[in-house]
Amino acid sequence: MNKSSILTRLTNSRVWRSFFRHGWPDNPLDRSLAMTSNLFFHLHPVKVSRKSLKWSYSFGLGIISSILFGVLVFTGILLMFYYVPSVERAYPTMKEIQLSVPLGQFTRNMHRWAAHAMVLAVILHMARVFYTGAYKPPREFNWVIGVILLLLTMGSSFTGYLLPWDQLSFWAITVGTNIAGYAPGVGDTVRQILLGGVEVGQSTLIRFYTLHIALLPTLVALLVSVHIWRVRKDGGLAANEVEER
Ligand code: HEM
Repeated sequence: MNKSSILTRLTNSRVWRSFFRHGWPDNPLDRSLAMTSNLFFHLHPVKVSRKSLKWSYSFGLGIISSILFGVLVFTGILLMFYYVPSVERAYPTMKEIQLSVPLGQFTRNMHRWAAHAMVLAVILHMARVFYTGAYKPPREFNWVIGVILLLLTMGSSFTGYLLPWDQLSFWAITVGTNIAGYAPGVGDTVRQILLGGVEVGQSTLIRFYTLHIALLPTLVALLVSVHIWRVRKDGGLAANEVEER
């Protein structure tokens, strides 16, 4: 059997067809189907300008933020196998992860560094969008989604900070929630809701844990999907339009 007949048999097989809804991309139709039926390739518009493909236009900061979020979800799930969100067990389990779990120290550091890097990447991404004027119509909706993503990123960072339950986390959250308490009118209520009481304790830990591992990442995942879908629907990066004019 020659090479091309093996390829034809493979691409006509039912298993192949259930994964890829097109033939081997050796003709214009299958080539375009290969692009439009692939989730990642489909994120790009049909035509893109050279300027938007230049590294120095976006520095890939949006993609870098998305990848860091992926790293955080992956390493976060690994940490959840050991971490126990109770005031008696949180610190010892965190030490156990560092000292006796295989690759525990590495996983924890990956999680910590990726978290710091994500905050930085999202802020730089926002600055890039601002300086290239990409917040202007029709992208104003995506700018607003972006602002919510920034707040969610900060929220994830803040809630994660308490989880090691060491002196640094305890006092950082005490100071942070006290600052929230000074907001006019709603301050005291917000502080009480965050703490689940009058001071940082077990109720605070379980609230922060639930926000950190369930609510905030789910919202980030949903909004990042809408955000990237919107980039595609608005005709790709704003640089495309500048070149068309
Ligand atoms: C979790 C945080 C975020 C993620 C994962 C994310 C992801 C992305 C990606 C992948 C792109 C397309 C490629 C690129 O520009 O690098 C993009 C574009 C965009 N983002 Fe974000 N983003 C986030 C936060 C933000 C923030 C904080 C803002 C602004 C407040 C924002 C506003 C925008 C806008 C307006 C565009 C279109 C840019 C253009 O057309 O040139 N994003 N984002």
